[in-house]
Amino acid sequence: MLLLRDNAAIVNVSPGLALVPKQTASIYCASKAALHSFSKTLRWQLEGTSVKVFEVLPSAVDTAMTAGRGRAKISPDRLAGEFWRGFQRDKFEI
Ligand SMILES: NC(=O)c1ccc[n+]([C@@H]2O[C@H](COP(=O)([O-])OP(=O)(O)OC[C@H]3O[C@@H](n4cnc5c(N)ncnc54)[C@H](OP(=O)(O)O)[C@@H]3O)[C@@H](O)[C@H]2O)c1
Repeated sequence: MLLLRDNAAIVNVSPGLALVPKQTASIYCASKAALHSFSKTLRWQLEGTSVKVFEVLPSAVDTAMTAGRGRAKISPDRLAGEFWRGFQRDKFEI
């Protein structure tokens, strides 16, 4: 269905841990590394179509998932703002 549209986008969210794994979260990091790889290949597969593939790789974001854990978390609003700036410039890895 996305291919039938003039413009479409897929946005995957992989943590920075997809690139730099953490000792205490091996399965989480491995699954997110797979999502990072999948995002890259999907982008290549869809080159030349109307569908763009974006990947957002944030550090820790202050959400329910990270409640009571982590330091120096960014707010979801800040992440959304940074994503939007990158999205408008066709920056595919944000
Ligand atoms: N927080 C971070 O620091 C961070 C950083 C990088 C990447 N990420 C990634 O971003 C994604 C979202 O994380 P988050 O921090 O936003 O977590 P979150 O605040 O806990 O939100 C998780 C969301 O997933 C939904 N969900 C959970 N189980 C589901 C299921 N079985 N089927 C459908 N929806 C389900 C929840 O829906 P309900 O509200 O209806 O339960 C909720 O909207 C995760 O993949 C996480 O790995 C998070």
